[in-house]
Amino acid sequence: MRPVRHVMSVVGARPNFMKTAPVIAAFARRPDAVRHTLVHTGQHYDAVMSRVFLEELGVGTPDHMLDVGSGAHGAQTARVMERIEPILERERPDVLLVPGDVNSTVAAALVASKLDIPVGHIEAGLRSYDRSMPEEINRILTDQISSLLFIHSPEARDNLLREGIDGHRVHAVGNTMIDTLVAMRARIREIDAATAHGVTPGAYLVVTLHRPALVDSAMLVAAVAALDRVAAEIPVVFPIHPRTANAMRRQGLAFSAPGMRLIEPLGYLEFLSLLEHAAGALTDSGGIQEEATYLGVPCFTLRDNTERPVTCELGTNVLLGLAPERIGEVPALIEAARGRPAAVPPGWDGAAAERLVDVLEAGVPEWAPPPAPGAHAVAAADGRPARFGAGVARLP
Ligand code: UD1
Repeated sequence: MRPVRHVMSVVGARPNFMKTAPVIAAFARRPDAVRHTLVHTGQHYDAVMSRVFLEELGVGTPDHMLDVGSGAHGAQTARVMERIEPILERERPDVLLVPGDVNSTVAAALVASKLDIPVGHIEAGLRSYDRSMPEEINRILTDQISSLLFIHSPEARDNLLREGIDGHRVHAVGNTMIDTLVAMRARIREIDAATAHGVTPGAYLVVTLHRPALVDSAMLVAAVAALDRVAAEIPVVFPIHPRTANAMRRQGLAFSAPGMRLIEPLGYLEFLSLLEHAAGALTDSGGIQEEATYLGVPCFTLRDNTERPVTCELGTNVLLGLAPERIGEVPALIEAARGRPAAVPPGWDGAAAERLVDVLEAGVPEWAPPPAPGAHAVAAADGRPARFGAGVARLP
């Protein structure tokens, strides 16, 4: 085992901040054990996409800002790689922690692994099995080069074993993004975002749509028209991502229904308040499928697949398909979902970061050849790898 005295985390885009903040807090509670430093790549840079999150979540000022900004995938990924390399060479952390599946995640992981700096991947093992999604490529590559794979749902372990990853590297720690929600719950409840945006708690639809498959395609026209019709039935609050706002502007699209409240992206606390009191959520985000599950809010996902099937099996999530014509069904689906039982997956309990830090403090295993493919079959017959919680770190 390699000892761990310095952990460096990398964040870049909005969904990363909530996954890493509780890990930083967990390290702060154990100040003597491990030094923690933070790199912000600057993939997201607007105040509403970045600064407000860091402030609200108490992340503090990053130790290193890379200011990579927007760009084509190759250019953005390359800029992160170029700019993080000298920092990693100079600081040589014992582990580089990367969350999620954005371009910053894979870029930082690739540079670290070539410098023989072990990578720990938060939210490992998620798979949509849709290689047209840039995030799917980022997930597969990051997992392959990670020494420690921190998972939050049972299917993640199966996905990783199928790709030949050694099960001993996989740790079922739970969901650090839900840690943030648990930690912030009281502050979220102090806010009444619904009223502030002119809607009645419990009687509106919250919408977020930003994936290129929808917004950078001709389907955006149909989606805007369908949302306009839905807004005549139920008030809609739509905090719009800059990618979507830009695409609407380019295509000359606008909403006209008086029930549509098109607003700037919200900070974390305000958005979660809005989600908690919504009658339903329509989204193509990954994180919101999880947050809606935790909060018991009916969630309708405008995608053909999800890398988070546990939210459909246990939670409130329904896959509509990448089908703007189905948006019109949402008001009726919300009614149908009332009273449907939903559960929170194990490990989505507010203590995932503590379990993750326990694993890190035990050290990083040296690389060894993964078990032969047959070994997985034997282990699977034994029931072990498929079970959530099997592995070194166990949930209580
Ligand atoms: C990225 C992630 C996606 C994640 C999303 C959350 C990748 C491949 N995608 O997508 O997985 O769900 O973040 O938001 O990493 N822009 C601004 N201000 C900003 C950031 C972006 O105006 O602070 C605009 C720019 O026009 C930019 C566009 O949004 O070109 C897209 O930003 P980018 O970081 O490339 O990807 P996202 O769509 O945000």
